[in-house]
Amino acid sequence: MTSEPARGPVDATTTNAWGSLTELSKNLRPDLRGWFAADPDRAQRLSYQAADLHVDLSKNLLTDEVLATLVALADEVRLTERRDAMFAGEHINVTEDRAVLHTALRRPSDEPLTVDGQDIAADVADELAKVYAFAEKVRSGEWTGVTGEPVRTIVNIGIGGSDLGPVMAYEALEPYVQDGLEVRFVSNIDPTDVAQKTADLDPTTTLFIVASKTFGTLETLTNARLARDWLWRSLVAAGAIEDSEDGRSDAVAKHFVAVSTALDKVAAFGIDPENAFGFWDWVGGRYSVDSAIGTSLAVAIGPDAFAEFLGGFHAMDEHFRTTPLEHNVPVLMGLLNVWYVNFRDAHTHAVLPYAQQLHRFPAYLQQLTMESNGKSVRWDGTPVTTETGEVFWGEPGTNGQHAFYQLIHQGTRTIPADFIAVANPAYPLRDADADVHGLFLANFFAQTKALAFGKTADEVRAEGVAEDLVSAKVFSGNRPTTSILAPALTPSVLGQLVALYEHITFVQGVVWGIDSFDQWGVELGKKLALEIAPAVAGDEAALAAQDPSTAALIAKYRELRS
Ligand code: F6P
Repeated sequence: MTSEPARGPVDATTTNAWGSLTELSKNLRPDLRGWFAADPDRAQRLSYQAADLHVDLSKNLLTDEVLATLVALADEVRLTERRDAMFAGEHINVTEDRAVLHTALRRPSDEPLTVDGQDIAADVADELAKVYAFAEKVRSGEWTGVTGEPVRTIVNIGIGGSDLGPVMAYEALEPYVQDGLEVRFVSNIDPTDVAQKTADLDPTTTLFIVASKTFGTLETLTNARLARDWLWRSLVAAGAIEDSEDGRSDAVAKHFVAVSTALDKVAAFGIDPENAFGFWDWVGGRYSVDSAIGTSLAVAIGPDAFAEFLGGFHAMDEHFRTTPLEHNVPVLMGLLNVWYVNFRDAHTHAVLPYAQQLHRFPAYLQQLTMESNGKSVRWDGTPVTTETGEVFWGEPGTNGQHAFYQLIHQGTRTIPADFIAVANPAYPLRDADADVHGLFLANFFAQTKALAFGKTADEVRAEGVAEDLVSAKVFSGNRPTTSILAPALTPSVLGQLVALYEHITFVQGVVWGIDSFDQWGVELGKKLALEIAPAVAGDEAALAAQDPSTAALIAKYRELRS
C-alpha cells in the first residue's frame, strides 16, 4: 500500500467535459414545465434508490446531456481512482499525511483491513466492543456514581465534530433513547453553556463524557475543567464526597470518561485511561460520529441500535463504492452541486429536512461540507482553478417556509435545495380525522412543486389579480430541488443519510482537486485568541501589540465589563 496518492489533482477546468458543460450551461434555457411535459418518464428516469433512500433528481436543472457530461467529468478527474484510494487507506489527506478511513468504522468486523501495516479492522472491533460494554453498564445501572446511584444524565463535552455529530444523531434518534436516560451537550466556551446545562443536574447521577480527538481544544478542556469543578463542588455540598484529594479523584473516576486519540492527555487530565475510548488519526473530527465519539449516543440508544446506525453508513458506503457512476446517488448529487456552483452561479445550498428530529442536521452538515471543501488551494498546494465550497444552510420545514423560503421562491439567486422526508413519523398524531404527518408532507411535496413549476403571469391574472400586482405574484419556477424520501427515521436511515452527504462532499472535493480532510483554516483564529487573551485580561503590553481596531475593541470591552 502506498502512502502517497498515485497522482496529483486533475485540473477539472482543463477537461473536455468542463468545456462541454460550459457550452451546455450557456445554451441551457431551464424549462422544468416543458421538460416534464415533453418527457413523461422524466421523474422515473431521474429517480434513484440508494439503500433505503429514494432520491428524486428530476426537479433539477438537468438534461440527459448535462447529466452524461457531469459523469464524464467524474471520469476525467479520476473520481473512482480517488474513491478507491480512500477505501483502501491510501494517504489521501495529503497535507496531514493521513489515511481517510471513516468508512472502516462501519465495515463488518470479520473483513480484515490492513493499513500502514496495522489490522485496523481488529482495532475498530476492539474499541467498539469497549464502547458497547460501557454503554451496557450505564444502561443497566451497573455503572454507578460515588453514592452508588445509577447514571441518569450524560453530559457530552466536545465541540465541532466531537459535538455536532453526537447531538444531531441524539436528537434524530430520540424515540430510541432508553427511558430515564438523558444526554446533554456542552460545546461553547461561553460560560453560559456549561452553567445552563448543569444548573438543574443532580451530580450523583451525572456522567460527563469529554470528547476531543486531540484533547487539546481550548473550549473542550476549559468546559471539562468547569464541569469537574461543578461536580466536586456539588458533591461536597451534597455530602457525597469528602473535600479531599481522594474524594475528588474518586469523583472523577466515577463521573468522567473520555474519548480521544490522545490517551496520554486524557490521563494528564485525571481520567483513568481504563475509562477512555480511543480512535485514530485516520478519522477526521467531522467524520467521527460513528467512532467512539458517538459513545454518548451508543449509551442513549444502546449497542443494538448503534450497530444498526453503523450498518446504515455501510450500506451507503457500499452503494458509493460499487454502483456505476450514472446511478450512484452520492456521485450524482456531488456532481450536481458542482454544476450549480461552477456553471449556474449558485453560492449556497439549502438542506431542508421535513422531520423535526433532523433539526440539527443542517448544522451538522455545515461542518461536514464547509470545513471539508472551503479551500482555496488544491491538495498539491497549487491554487484552485475554479470556485469551491458553497455555503450549506437550512432549517426544518415547515418552519423555514414561514421564514426564508420567500427568497428561495422569488429571490434573484439560484439556491439548490435538498428536501428530506420520512414516510412514517415517530409520533403519528391525528387532528380530528386528519393524519398530521400527511398534512406535513403535503407541504414537502407542495414546496418542491411550487419551486419547480412556479406560477405564470397568465395564471396569476386568471385568478383575478389586479394588473399592478401581477408581477409581485408571479413565481418563475425552475428553482432546483432534490427530494429524498425514506421509510422512517431509523438508526440505519440516519447512518445512510450521513454517509450520503459525506460522499457528496468527497465527490465535490475530488472535482475541485482539494484535500477535503484537512482544516488549516481554523488554526489562525485559535492562535490569535490565545495571544489576545492576556490583552483582554488586562495586560497593557499585549493590548498595545494589537492592531488599532482590535485594540480599540478590547479597550471598549474592558470599559464596559463590570
Ligand atoms: O477547530 C476545528 C476542529 O479541529 C474540528 O475539525 C474538530 O471537529 C473540532 O475542532 C474539535 O476538535 P477536537 O475533537 O480535537 O476537540
